Amino acid sequence: MPPSSTTLSIPSPSDVPRHVAVIMDGNGRWATQRYLPRTAGHARGVQAVRRLVEACGTRGVQYLTLFAFSSENWRRPADEVSMLMRLFIQTLEKQIDRLEEQGVRLRVVGDLDAFEPHLQHLILDAQERTSHNTALHLTIAANYGGRWDILQAMRQALVAHPELADKPHALSEAMLLPYLTMAFAPEPDLFIRTGGEQRISNFLIWQLAYTELYFTDEYWPDFNEKQLDAAFEWYRSRERRFGRTSAQLTKPS
Ligand code: IPE
Ligand code: IPE
Ligand code: MG
Repeated sequence: MPPSSTTLSIPSPSDVPRHVAVIMDGNGRWATQRYLPRTAGHARGVQAVRRLVEACGTRGVQYLTLFAFSSENWRRPADEVSMLMRLFIQTLEKQIDRLEEQGVRLRVVGDLDAFEPHLQHLILDAQERTSHNTALHLTIAANYGGRWDILQAMRQALVAHPELADKPHALSEAMLLPYLTMAFAPEPDLFIRTGGEQRISNFLIWQLAYTELYFTDEYWPDFNEKQLDAAFEWYRSRERRFGRTSAQLTKPS
């Protein structure tokens, strides 16, 4: 299947979003509110991930993409960063069997070279072990940045098409698409950000071009099936026009 693009072709609508992308925000504030260290919020956040994976599976979502660590999150205090890395390792070690049983295909996107070798090894192993699964494509964005993604795709496209150096106008969207890290998935239909902030924070900046954006004040550790269903209900009420007029949707010309 060639990589799809909402600016090159119009996708057919579906009641349940095929691809849901989530910024899981508010772990630190959830913990602070309870006089707990921020790291306790991250640990609770993992439970919310498990709930969400299950809920998306039963609702027929095909792709779930979660922002776990941004390319800018290295700016946090060193002890928080190292706790997040440890949590990532522990979660992979503990959850991989369950993901496999659930038919989940796991991918990790981002600049993985920055991670310690043991974590890189676990990621590659988990991807390999689940590569035959098809029930749900679960993607974790780790050390991911939307700008990094576009730049690395551009570099690969230039290597694959050296003629572009002399003919830059020949560069097309279709030439770039295969090199974006999310090339295997349709663009997200629904974006959810918990924690009250209304920003993209360098997540999938290319792929969110026509995504419906849903923001909720709930902190990530509190996000559950009920809130997911509320987001889906809101999503169903949206009119996705992809540049066309409303009248064209009811009476295609
Ligand atoms: C999101 O929660 C998790 C990561 C970025 C790793 P935060 O840690 O950003 O929580 P708040 O926004 O400070 O509450
Ligand atoms: C975005 O949350 C990144 C993740 C959830 C992994 P941040 O908490 O880092 O975003 P900002 O700094 O508030 O924009
Ligand atoms: Mg935050």
